[in-house]
Amino acid sequence: MDAKVSKKDLNWSELGFQYQRTDFRFSATWEKGSWNEGGLVSSEFIAVHEGAPALHYAQQCFEGMKAQTAADGRILLFRPNLNSERMNLAGPRLLMPEVPAEMFMSAVEQTVRANYAWIPPYGSGASLYIRPMLIGIGENLGLKPAKQYEFRVFVSPVGPYYQQAGLAVISLAVSDVDRAAPLGTGSFKVGANYAGGLLATRMAQQLGANEALYLDSLERRYIDEAGSANIIIALKDGSFVTPKSDAILPSITRRSIMQLAKDQLGLVTEERPIDLRKEFPNFQEAAACGTAAVLTPVGRIWYDDAWHNINGDGESVGPVMQKLYDLLIGIQKGELEDPYSWLHEVEI
Ligand SMILES: Cc1ncc(COP(=O)(O)O)c(C=O)c1O
Repeated sequence: MDAKVSKKDLNWSELGFQYQRTDFRFSATWEKGSWNEGGLVSSEFIAVHEGAPALHYAQQCFEGMKAQTAADGRILLFRPNLNSERMNLAGPRLLMPEVPAEMFMSAVEQTVRANYAWIPPYGSGASLYIRPMLIGIGENLGLKPAKQYEFRVFVSPVGPYYQQAGLAVISLAVSDVDRAAPLGTGSFKVGANYAGGLLATRMAQQLGANEALYLDSLERRYIDEAGSANIIIALKDGSFVTPKSDAILPSITRRSIMQLAKDQLGLVTEERPIDLRKEFPNFQEAAACGTAAVLTPVGRIWYDDAWHNINGDGESVGPVMQKLYDLLIGIQKGELEDPYSWLHEVEI
């Protein structure tokens, strides 16, 4: 296919994090123990049975990843094998079939390639968000797993998640409602975790925050994560920590940043429970991190009926987060050396 058609006439640098219909998506279906070959389709609509377990019982999971254009025109994915691995933890947790790694990668590559015209150009600040998803689609009524599944991958060009370009500082409000139970599905990327979070996000925004921050649902003491991102913290003693919890999504971005903090900045890093109220006075810098959020510094946290500032006025970007952001996006865009072979090029 001559995918190198001219780019769409979009105002790339003005894009927000919204759905933009593109030309192609990949779709494959599973029935009686096996996947069909699947292929690219043009319709953005899915036909599912009205009794489909995805609709009633949230038997579905998904992934989120990005493709970026490098300065030399290469199209780069960031650690896509980890998205495939994570989907194969979520699917079986909900009694859904695994998506073979080769099928996952091929579907992602085909969809990115077919939508070449929609991949934001280098330097625009935008990227191509990729959404693989697995849903139970077949006829059903009682609480049991579906007999048919669809694996689909669609893409959408996106700008920054938090509306501001570059490194903007956000605020979080501790949620009064829980996201995930200790032995529940919090560590899997399943839709059921997110529907309950819509109210938490709304409540956080009513307080003037960008997003909800969840504490552990057992003791409501330890930081879990934000609505769509993990949390990383630079402490005043010079160490760099991130919450250890079985109820949070194991963020690929966070795992990468922890490695960069240790190897490139020489920080002592630790994944451990972080008691918000007790440890807050020792917070030097904090940030939310994820595919969509990238690395976004957190300036203020609302808890116990008051705002608590981090890093002075709660509005400035600290040096540790700035360095980590530069390292992360430098690698993701192919501008810096990739010592860990995190990048995966999609041949166009
Ligand atoms: C709840 C939640 N936590 C964390 C993350 C970040 O994970 P990743 O870095 O793998 O995108 C996401 C998604 O991006 C998320 O939805």
